[in-house]
Amino acid sequence: MGSNINIGVIGYGYWGPNLVRNFSELPGAQVRSVSDFKPELLVKAKARYPNIQVTTNYQDLLADPGIDAIAVATPVSTHFDLALAALQAGKHVLLEKPMTSSSKQALRLIEEAKQRNLVLMVDHTFVYTGAVRKMHDLVATGALGSIYYYDSVRVNLGLFQHDVNVLWDLAVHDLSIMGYVLPHKPYAVSATGISHVSGGMENIAYLTLFFPDNLIAHIHVNWLAPVKVRRTLIGGNQKMILFDDLEPSEKIKVYDKGITVNGSSDGIHQMLIGYRTGDMWAPQLDMTEALKTEGEHFLRCISQGERPITDGDAGLQIVKILEAATESMKQRGQLIELENLVLTEVAA
Ligand SMILES: NC(=O)c1ccc[n+]([C@@H]2O[C@H](COP(=O)([O-])OP(=O)(O)OC[C@H]3O[C@@H](n4cnc5c(N)ncnc54)[C@H](O)[C@@H]3O)[C@@H](O)[C@H]2O)c1
Repeated sequence: MGSNINIGVIGYGYWGPNLVRNFSELPGAQVRSVSDFKPELLVKAKARYPNIQVTTNYQDLLADPGIDAIAVATPVSTHFDLALAALQAGKHVLLEKPMTSSSKQALRLIEEAKQRNLVLMVDHTFVYTGAVRKMHDLVATGALGSIYYYDSVRVNLGLFQHDVNVLWDLAVHDLSIMGYVLPHKPYAVSATGISHVSGGMENIAYLTLFFPDNLIAHIHVNWLAPVKVRRTLIGGNQKMILFDDLEPSEKIKVYDKGITVNGSSDGIHQMLIGYRTGDMWAPQLDMTEALKTEGEHFLRCISQGERPITDGDAGLQIVKILEAATESMKQRGQLIELENLVLTEVAA
């Protein structure tokens, strides 16, 4: 490996160009090759980046000894095969979210990367935004007090995916934010959802997650909404956060609001609720593009052995929750305990 880390990108559809642009602009990295099945997309890539190689055959990237790392930006159902082949070719891997279609596959990739001492990172992009990092800090420093709930709405007239339902497409963002920000891991989930396209995947879903310490989370995702909403509330007993990702600058607002409960232990009738309505402030956020921060981190993981914040285990946790949620949806919201999830053994 030279001083520059050479990247190959598989998939140049909607998301792949963002990876190519960011890695092209990062010092210490260069995009050497891009692969996509569709030649017309490769023409676009070549027009924008004349120095990169393009190919419709991803195996060319795996066979190129000059490529150190592969970013996989293809549909979810292809993640496992492509990532496994890349690891087996000795390449570090940055894999799109959600990591795989099953926890069995995720475990297999984790094992392969470990055995070969290669970096396996999952592109949970939100974790690398200034807004989510700020929420993480506010929770971690205790500024919000005890966390009561996480409540998110992520809806728009979205692209219907062919290989995954709306939970696997959109809720994965909230699950990655929760995994990074919240102090606990969920122990059970319940989900309901419906498909409005015959034979299609669920395009609207409601997911509830139960955590220790009376922490509860709810995620509402929908590909069939007339307006785009990206709003999350995190409620604590000291302060509460509103995260509105569509706000251009003040994405995070921290409210000094809440209640105080006074009264004897005799019962609810003696309980006195006091309401606190203090100031609101919008903290300064690092507005660096998330993929730039993430790309730098990926390069440091490769060159300096840092452990990815969004490593294979983080990816696996989310896939496990999505599997449980899908199972719950089939049973019309049946509570599924996460500890009791039977993880199929790692494939040989
Ligand atoms: N991190 C994020 O915020 C974010 C945002 C959008 C999409 N994504 C993820 O990115 C991935 C791709 O999503 P998209 O919306 O760009 O899909 P897309 O369908 O627009 O693009 C995928 C591309 O991959 C190509 N492809 C598939 N298999 C290939 C193979 N074996 N070799 C070469 N090319 C191949 C297809 O031709 C297509 O052009 C998904 O996993 C999705 O979840 C992540």
